Amino acid sequence: MTFRANQREATAPAEPNGRVPRHVAIIMDGNGRWAAERGLPRTEGHRRGMEAVRRTVDAAIDLGIETITLFSFSSENWSRPAAEVSFLFGLIRIFIRRDLADLHRNGVRITVIGERANVPADIVGLIEEAETLTAGNTRLNMVVAFNYGSRGEIVRAVRRVAEAVKRGEIDPAAIDEATIGRHLDTAAIPDPDLLIRTSGELRLSNFLLWQVAYSELVFLPLYWPDFGAEALRAAVREFASRDRRYGGVAARSGA
Ligand code: IPE
Ligand code: IPE
Ligand code: MG
Repeated sequence: MTFRANQREATAPAEPNGRVPRHVAIIMDGNGRWAAERGLPRTEGHRRGMEAVRRTVDAAIDLGIETITLFSFSSENWSRPAAEVSFLFGLIRIFIRRDLADLHRNGVRITVIGERANVPADIVGLIEEAETLTAGNTRLNMVVAFNYGSRGEIVRAVRRVAEAVKRGEIDPAAIDEATIGRHLDTAAIPDPDLLIRTSGELRLSNFLLWQVAYSELVFLPLYWPDFGAEALRAAVREFASRDRRYGGVAARSGA
């Protein structure tokens, strides 16, 4: 992998008014259709998708984004043919083995969210190795949502809260939004400012349902293997043009 962290591209600034989202979450979708349009097997789309991940991490560092969350395998993706599931698992193995050292050298901290119970033991080992090695890095937080589903995450959080109530550690009357947030996989991670989905689909597919309550949503018509620095910059520009009101009144309304 060739990280270009120290060579900012000599193009126009990322977006006009200097607002860079601190946390960008991405639903990396469209690998299969990218391949099908070229008469290639879906697996080739996934392989090229991994290259897009590398470009995107580079671009996120260039832009000064603090956290990037990538949806790499959903709890619903188990319903795909077994051969495709094992190819995707093979890719995650290759990604960690091949790219971990570079990511670490470039100051990337890796965190993996999702259910680990039904993940092959060797992948759990690789995930733990990546998280431990990079735990002290601060340049970019790379959060990988692997075997992740938002409703399942909320169920696990509720179960943990219920257990704490049972132990007498939490008073049910004191449960608030922060209590729930602290028990999600994303406990230590601020909510996404910007959510991007590629492939043209206009849905969340069970991704970060709690966390995107006030994220800006950008849906791009390109397939994930075609994503890179340019598309990320375009999405960040779109983000910068939005008026985040959080239920209040427009910042520009001069009230
Ligand atoms: C995204 O691409 C990758 C994963 C979900 C793992 P898809 O494989 O969903 O590609 P499409 O959406 O079928 O084109
Ligand atoms: C969402 O894409 C999951 C990932 C990108 C990992 P899918 O392709 O699985 O979503 P649907 O099936 O189109 O909703
Ligand atoms: Mg898809």
